[in-house]
Amino acid sequence: MDKIKVIGKQILSGKIYISGSKNSVVSLLPAAILSDETIIEKVPHISDVDNLEEILRYLGVKFSLESGTIHIDSTSMINKPITLEYSSKLRASYYFMGAMLSKFKKIEISFPGGCNIGKRSFDFHLKGFEKLGAKVIIKDNLYTIVADELKGAEINLPFPSVGATVNILLASVKALGKTVINNAASEPEIGNLIDFLNSMGAKIKGKDTSKLEIEGVDRLSGGKIKVIPDRIEAGTYILAGIMNGCNLEICDVRPDHLKSFFDVLDEMGADYKIVGDKVVTNKVSHLKPVNIVTQVYPGFATDLQQPITTLLLQCDGISTVKETIYENRFQNTKYLNEMGANIEVEGDTITVYGPTFLKGKLVRTSDLRAGAALVLAALSAEGETTITDIKHLLRGYSDLIKKLTNVGAKIWLEDE
Ligand code: EPU
Repeated sequence: MDKIKVIGKQILSGKIYISGSKNSVVSLLPAAILSDETIIEKVPHISDVDNLEEILRYLGVKFSLESGTIHIDSTSMINKPITLEYSSKLRASYYFMGAMLSKFKKIEISFPGGCNIGKRSFDFHLKGFEKLGAKVIIKDNLYTIVADELKGAEINLPFPSVGATVNILLASVKALGKTVINNAASEPEIGNLIDFLNSMGAKIKGKDTSKLEIEGVDRLSGGKIKVIPDRIEAGTYILAGIMNGCNLEICDVRPDHLKSFFDVLDEMGADYKIVGDKVVTNKVSHLKPVNIVTQVYPGFATDLQQPITTLLLQCDGISTVKETIYENRFQNTKYLNEMGANIEVEGDTITVYGPTFLKGKLVRTSDLRAGAALVLAALSAEGETTITDIKHLLRGYSDLIKKLTNVGAKIWLEDE
């Protein structure tokens, strides 16, 4: 099942329900080992969750998933090295660094996986662990992080990194005394993690701000959380509605998590309406070109940059997108151009000449959001598109085929 086929230009109408956030659940699952028994609700059906389940089971953690709710029992967890076979399946495997350092004062893990969209170093994470009193030894891509005792510290992040904020939070919740993270990431997914840790008895203040204060506690226990709706999945389907929708309703959305995205849609003159936690979208015949710059939250999300590029193809004029977070996140443009787009890439900026009309082609998914951009392109293209290497897409879009088929798309999976 590693090919998706799409016959484009179908009208999309009906309701799409947004699943729990990928980038939340991938930190909540490693965080769960800090307590004895925890419950996580609204878990998306994505392969990143399957891969984390594999790691947890390998570590002796009991895991049960039923109707989107996971029960985790880590009372019989064992500390053993997370080998490359496990760590390389996803980026978030490195959240076991912070979690296991906190639980066992020692973790051995091989290099993490994830999308190839830039350098993606994690030096801030390692420096943060060192600030808390840990020693980091790197040998042949194996990371050993040990501490006799973790002690609270003031940590100034050079950049508000999501991953570093998560890892330092995990490592510091049980450290001796107080930790302060300055210039912390304030993405909603961090807030979801803070709520989960606090439900276990952690003492973290400053949710949704760039300064987090963590008062270490001796023990964490219990813990229950509902994963927040995936704002990137929501944005992707809102784009599908603006390109091909007739009253397409995107339901279970947190519109307050998508403010910068809506600002851009307003500037373009897109037809969408927010009704509570629902966004109703319609195709319009003319859209204005825009200039987008990706930024950390609450700025325009880098994860929506590739999907929105597909919409920019329909604008009347020249748009630009400047990517400031990753060095290599334009791999979608090659395939969009093969489908008929006119996009120039220069350094960190692309120029999109619109409007252009797409034709179905054989294209390849290079990374998760490039895959989403290609699905959107295929839905609006004339004829049949085949998308290969879809493992990237399945990592982050829960029930993609089912959700789109239900609203009238002609899209199906095929074995290679
Ligand atoms: N960076 C460093 N050193 C560090 C940490 C980060 O140089 O120690 C740099 C990275 O190289 C990158 C930038 O800082 O250029 C941003 O990195 P950040 O740590 O904020 O991102 P991340 O934690 O690796 C998460 C999401 C990404 C999302 C970004 C930004 C997860 C598992 N991943 O990545 O999601 O793009 O935050 O919002 O939460 C996706 O969903 O498609 C995705 C890539």
